[in-house]
This record gives sequence, C-alpha cells and structure tokens, in this order.
Amino acid sequence: MSYFRSNIDSMTGYVPGEQPQSGGFIKLNTNENPYPPSPRVLEAIHKATTDRLRLYPDPIAQKFREAAGKVLGVSPDCILACNGSDDALTILTRACVGEGELMVAPDPSYGLYRVLADIQGCQYRSVRFDDNGRLPIDFTSGAKLAYITNPNAPTGTMVPPVHLLELAENAPCLVVVDEAYADFAPNDAVPLIKNCERLVVTRTLSKSYSLAGLRVGFIVAQKQIIDTLMKVKDSYNCDMISIAAATAALEDQEYFEQARKKVLITRRRLEISLAELGFIVTPSHANFVWIQRATPLEPIYQALKKDRILIRYFRFRDNTEGLRISVGTDDEINHFLDAMRLLV
Ligand SMILES: Cc1ncc(COP(=O)(O)O)c(C=O)c1O
Repeated sequence: MSYFRSNIDSMTGYVPGEQPQSGGFIKLNTNENPYPPSPRVLEAIHKATTDRLRLYPDPIAQKFREAAGKVLGVSPDCILACNGSDDALTILTRACVGEGELMVAPDPSYGLYRVLADIQGCQYRSVRFDDNGRLPIDFTSGAKLAYITNPNAPTGTMVPPVHLLELAENAPCLVVVDEAYADFAPNDAVPLIKNCERLVVTRTLSKSYSLAGLRVGFIVAQKQIIDTLMKVKDSYNCDMISIAAATAALEDQEYFEQARKKVLITRRRLEISLAELGFIVTPSHANFVWIQRATPLEPIYQALKKDRILIRYFRFRDNTEGLRISVGTDDEINHFLDAMRLLV
C-alpha cells in the first residue's frame, strides 16, 4: 500500500550537485559565483533583521519588482519574484500543464524540467538540437508548456533570439526561456516579450549576483501572464530578508558588472587552457565550460574529487559524456588546471 500518487512513487527525484558540508573543497560543480555578493547585500540583510521579522513580508515583493524592472527596462508589473528560479519553474509548470498533458524541452537541458513533469503527472518530450544548434519549428506541437534553457545547461550553447521568437510564435503554449545564465551571454530574450505574449523568461540571482544561498529568482512576462501566475505562487514565496538583500544586489550594478567581467575573463582563459590539454571545448555563453573527448571522462572527475576538486560529470542516455567546470576565481582555476595537467 502507498500513501502517494502513483507518479510520485515511480519517479526519480532531482539530484542536485554535491554540496559538501566540510570545508577544503574547490567547488566548481554547481555554477555558483566565486566572488562574494555586493557589500550592500549584507547591509540590507542587517537592516531587514533589526525590527521587522515579526511581520509578514510583502507578498508581491514590490520593491524587488521595481529594482528588477529598472535593470531589465520593463515595467514592475511584468516581474514575478520567486524563491529561486526553481520556484519560477514550479509555478509555471503547476499553472500550465495538467495531468496527462505534454511538456517539452530540448535534450540535453536542465534536469529539473523532467522532474517537475513527473511530479505533475504529465508527459515529457525531449527534442534534440540539430547540428546548427536549432530546434525543429514543430518543437512545441501538442504541448501545454515548453522550456528552453538559454544559454543551455550543461553545454553553454545558445539559441539565437530570432529563433526563439520564431518558436514562440508557432507555439500552442507558453515558451519559457530559462535564462539562469543570461548575464554571461551576449544577448537575451527579454526585449522580445513586449511583442510576444507567449514568451516568458526566468532569471536567477544565484549565479551572476552571487546569491545562490539566498534563493531569489524571477519571471518576466507580459502583465496579464504575470497576473495569472500570481494566483499560483505560495502567498509569501519570498521572505523579507531575501527581498531586501536581492533588491540591494540589483541596485548595485557597478559591483555586478565588475564581478561579471572577472568571470568572463577567467572563462576565456579556462577555455583556452582546456583546448590546449586536448579537450573538445564548446564555446561557452555561461559561467561554466563544457568539455568532451573520445576517451572516458569519469576517471578524471573521480581523480579530481580525491584531490578535493569538485566538477560535474554527465553521461546522457545515448552514452555521450562531458565534464562541466564552473568558472572559479583565478586561483581556483590555476589549481584545477595544475591537477588536470597531471591527469591527461
Ligand atoms: C538552467 C538552470 N535553471 C535554473 C536553475 C536554478 O537556479 P536557482 O538557484 O535560481 O533555483 C539552475 C541552477 O543551476 C539552472 O542551471
């Protein structure tokens, strides 16, 4: 006898990257930012905790919406604050796809989409990119919701905005562009939203704003889409400390820009060094680098782990393998590259 719905019993839960609780690891496995958040974040946290914790937070996080709207050049009405962008994906899935209905996403892409589909009890279709990194125009046919990770995870490749628009215009459903890594990319889909109701973007402060521990992300869409999604979110999905801290991070664009530039410079150096070591390096538009080669990769991952260097190893259903290395500080990357030189 089971207490649970049959799809919950039969599904496999999402397995996040390792988060070792002891120190001493070089952590290049979950695409966190190697630099601390803006100093204004700590000030905001201190202020938020002095007197107000006995009160509920603002349910719609209006100050955060205003700050995010200003950064992206959209109205605050077009922003929905979320408890990390994973919460954004949960809200969208719950709002759009019923039991037995269809969700679609590219293959490979972020592993959480399939898990959300399993929880919902809906069908999931994954579609491979063609050799030019494009998706078929009928990618969304029959679907109630489509996800496209852009830049993609774990590969760091990008679908150009015109292709995204073409896919959304031909879709029978919302097309959600998961832009967790867009701040490291040359372009993004936000400017397309005003002319396309079906296009929805999700963002996170976990990567480019160094706030993975805080859990703040958001949805950008036309106002009427946001108004409907508001009905689905938990009433207080963002806490008072998160709202204050994330707002402060967005307001310090100068600090954000400096940290972003450092990551991009180190990413380039990492790509060049890994190519010199003989790996096939996919040019990255994110804060990680995806590498492959003809011989097995798992032993490299294991050997690095023994050396207390964590990266991420992937093997797909067709047995192709890859390693994903998050961009760390220059020191961390030097250490990683020294270890790699001994292994290849
Ligand atoms: C593609 C993608 N989307 C969403 C997320 C979730 O980010 P958050 O920390 O905002 O929940 C991640 C995290 O790694 C990701 O890789």
